[in-house]
Amino acid sequence: MNAPQHDSQQVKQFFDRWHLYQQIIAQDYMAHRGIHAALRAFVVEHLEQPFTLLDLGCGDASAIANTFSGTALHGYTGVDLSPVALALAADNLKAVAFAVRLVEADLTDYVGRTKGEQFDVVLLGFALHHLYTDEKRVFFQRCHTLLKPGGYLLLYDVFRRPHETRDQYLQAYFSYCTEHWTELSQDSLVGTRDHAYACDYPETYGTLAALARDGGFIPPTLPLFADEPQFHCLYSFQAEP
Ligand SMILES: C[S@@+](CC[C@H](N)C(=O)[O-])C[C@H]1O[C@@H](n2cnc3c(N)ncnc32)[C@H](O)[C@@H]1O
Repeated sequence: MNAPQHDSQQVKQFFDRWHLYQQIIAQDYMAHRGIHAALRAFVVEHLEQPFTLLDLGCGDASAIANTFSGTALHGYTGVDLSPVALALAADNLKAVAFAVRLVEADLTDYVGRTKGEQFDVVLLGFALHHLYTDEKRVFFQRCHTLLKPGGYLLLYDVFRRPHETRDQYLQAYFSYCTEHWTELSQDSLVGTRDHAYACDYPETYGTLAALARDGGFIPPTLPLFADEPQFHCLYSFQAEP
């Protein structure tokens, strides 16, 4: 029997309604500002030579131009399920100084079928939590083959806190959202919650670090960024040579 697979159609339908996620970013509800400031600082410090980056689940790539302008990035490949998000990404990236390639694909298929191509950095923002745990395990193994030796997987996502079950996480996350995401309409809040209950499978950092280690990465002990409730965090995993 085949291993269970995430429901990519349901994820795609949610993100095809991109304006709701745009509101969440505009209000900084998922800490994009802090995460992208930390990303930029990391890249400036660690990637001085021209480098290539694969952005899996790139969405509309709205933060990419600012985050990487003036860095040594010279080739950007964005992959996403949603054609709506990719059309916006093409527009958001039309004036950047680095080469851009956008691909409509499921990220698990993309990392599975790409042969021979290697990147200096893989970026994965708020997309890994849509995969089941066993799919994440396979993802780390395949991602390792896509990175040059010593390359970086820069991963930001939603996280369960230590000892939190998925149900406890969902309850805690949405009581936090109800209290803090005050500019969203009731409908938008309910839509976001329904999407999360149907499609979100975040891990604790301990589980993710173990999966990454099994896949050939060196997990860091500290995040590059974590917000106050520790739901939204950024980590850098280095590919073992
Ligand atoms: C929450 S958005 C994150 C967008 C962007 N990376 C960011 O940081 O804001 C998640 C994006 O990942 C895409 N996505 C989710 N699961 C995916 C998959 N299995 N393959 C490709 N894209 C996926 C969605 O279409 C959506 O654009």
